[in-house]
Amino acid sequence: MKIAIIGTGYVGLVTGACLAEIGHAVICQDSDSEKIDILETGRMPIYEPYLETLVRKNRESGRLSFTKDFEQAVKPSVVVFICVGTPPLENGEADLSAVEKVSREIAEVSDGYKLIVEKSTVPVQTGAWVAKTISIYGSRNAELDVASNPEFLREGSAVEDFLHPDRIVIGVQNKRAEMILSELYEPIIHGKFNCPIHTDCSRDGEAVPFIVTDMNSAELIKHASNSFLATKISFINAVAEICERTGANIRDVSYGIGLDKRIGRSFLEAGIGFGGFCFPKDLQAFIRIAENYGYDFKLLKDVENINVERISLVIRKLKEALWIVKGKTIGILGLAFKPNTDDIRFAPAIEIIKELLKEGAQVKAYDPKAMERTKKELSEVLYCRDPYEVAMEADGLVICTEWEEFKSLDLEKIKACMRRPFILDGRNIYDKDKLLSLGFEYKGIGR
Ligand code: UGA
Repeated sequence: MKIAIIGTGYVGLVTGACLAEIGHAVICQDSDSEKIDILETGRMPIYEPYLETLVRKNRESGRLSFTKDFEQAVKPSVVVFICVGTPPLENGEADLSAVEKVSREIAEVSDGYKLIVEKSTVPVQTGAWVAKTISIYGSRNAELDVASNPEFLREGSAVEDFLHPDRIVIGVQNKRAEMILSELYEPIIHGKFNCPIHTDCSRDGEAVPFIVTDMNSAELIKHASNSFLATKISFINAVAEICERTGANIRDVSYGIGLDKRIGRSFLEAGIGFGGFCFPKDLQAFIRIAENYGYDFKLLKDVENINVERISLVIRKLKEALWIVKGKTIGILGLAFKPNTDDIRFAPAIEIIKELLKEGAQVKAYDPKAMERTKKELSEVLYCRDPYEVAMEADGLVICTEWEEFKSLDLEKIKACMRRPFILDGRNIYDKDKLLSLGFEYKGIGR
């Protein structure tokens, strides 16, 4: 199938590369010419496991190409995915101006049949607006359908999530759009492709649930999923507070809760809170949508507040241990909002660093992938080559991201480097007793 991807950011690039991998002819377009230049010269604008290999392989086979030219992408394609950004406006609502502009432009350059699929995360009823827009701006020869197909890609495992999803959700207005999307996703729905990630893929041949709904429901599934996951995290973080105050251990508590199959074990890791460009903004957008439709979603407001308070919790814990933060050297291990990505948008580490700098601390930092991006945002930080350099002469270390590399550090060496061997383990990655026996002062979260 001939497919155009409009917007070659994180979602667009993963979608394009994976659809090419399962056999489609994909052309990815972006108005950011620098991004397209990077991709056309075989480099990557973002770090995401397996993505570079997939892009290279499918470019070489001719199934994947990149362009700055909108018409060149849209005109020959039957399916056009809208993957442009929907950043938050000041009031928390999603800015849909790029979605509107692209919808209009697709309509203007189209003749004949096309299916326009919104993949960007959008509020409920955006699809209906897209349908209205194209009916106004479309040429007489154009025959256009609209569908919603939300993405459930986690950064750091996006390729895996695309090729082996828990479900595929499509919201459609008619049978024709449903048929096209079920054909497009057929190899994934029936597990019939050579998995590029695992040689002996255990999910080979495994059927994936394909959910067909109306567009409003598909859009709501996306916002409600992210909000529910964020709720789980804030819930466990609130329970962690009670654990600290009562002497219980959040790791045991969350294990005990999660073994109930109705609850499940994932997304019950207490820590310094959720970040990234999805949960914080989607939560806000969902609260605003609810408000616009006359519902005060108090529960989600609390979820958001609990998360925002995680940052002051870290500063409070540092002060409890170090008394005065001003003039002290604090080492930060991990800048990305989660492991296996170089994304620092809304990352707790960045907020913590800003607070520490405001307090007059000296900040040293290391992250395996996210240092270049952070340097552009925070020039006052001393960036180090490895965790040991961060620890050198530090009065405290804060673990902000649970990178595998940090779990296997030579802790004796770390201790020897530090001026004061204090660790604030913001992701609970270390064995508390082991650290205490090595002579560290240790604070975790909820333990
Ligand atoms: C999230 C969703 O998981 C995806 O399904 C969704 O498609 C995506 O948003 C999106 O809307 O595009 P992502 O933001 O990449 O994916 O990352 P998550 O793995 O969901 O983690 C989000 C944040 O929650 C991270 O900061 C992580 O450290 C934190 N987290 C996660 C916790 O603090 N505790 C947990 O138990 C789990």
